[in-house]
Amino acid sequence: MAFLYEKCTLKVYDEATLKNTSPFDCGNSDLNDFFASDVIDYSSQLLGKSYCFTLDSDEKQIVAAFTISNDSIKTVSLPNARKKKVNADIPRPKQMKSYPAVLIGRLGVSVQFRNLENEEKSIGDQLMDFIKSWFIDHANKTGCRFIVVDSYNSIAPLKYYKRNGFIELFSSDEQEKDFMGIPMDARLNTRLLYFDLILLTR
Ligand SMILES: CC(C)(COP(=O)(O)OP(=O)(O)OC[C@H]1O[C@@H](n2cnc3c(N)ncnc32)[C@H](O)[C@@H]1OP(=O)(O)O)[C@@H](O)C(=O)NCCC(=O)NCCS
Repeated sequence: MAFLYEKCTLKVYDEATLKNTSPFDCGNSDLNDFFASDVIDYSSQLLGKSYCFTLDSDEKQIVAAFTISNDSIKTVSLPNARKKKVNADIPRPKQMKSYPAVLIGRLGVSVQFRNLENEEKSIGDQLMDFIKSWFIDHANKTGCRFIVVDSYNSIAPLKYYKRNGFIELFSSDEQEKDFMGIPMDARLNTRLLYFDLILLTR
């Protein structure tokens, strides 16, 4: 996590941060619009909390930003094979219908901080390590077993989450459409993925 830890500062993405920073550009216009215009309302409605890392040498620059919310994995809404896998990974006398999770609602890295030289990991990978570490920290106030994300269903974001250990909740686009009630002839815009935080505690 070298660059993010050593050269950046984590901030709550609040009105003061928005006022004191240059527009965030991660190369995705929906995400850019969210972080420019909707982020404050989203957080005041208690729908998600947003954070960003700003560059210490130029505090106007946002290096990366993300939004997180409480969520859960409901095993009743999963295909049998996935339900069995999730339950098998959580050996308990009584299986639960719902397991606590945190949702990464939005996440992006500034286009200016991609492919940095002399870094062992990309900024996106450093950011993911940071987010994971929050929820296995002893100071975390609630139990949180999984990180879930509704990733854009395109090659680069899916590659990013898979590189960071995320697995699809549904085995195919067709299965996800079926379970989410999306018509088979419609495009599936996002894929649900999850990461089991227990892997980091062993
Ligand atoms: C998805 C995203 C967060 C990933 O950020 P990132 O990991 O910092 O940067 P990139 O994916 O652009 O990195 C490009 C490549 O360089 C590699 N790379 C970059 N810096 C590296 C480093 N220092 N060491 C090793 N590899 C590095 C990455 O592994 C990646 O490899 P690939 O081309 O084989 O995929 C970023 O691309 C982004 O913000 N995209 C737009 C928004 C988005 O799609 N968000 C996620 C969907 S919700």
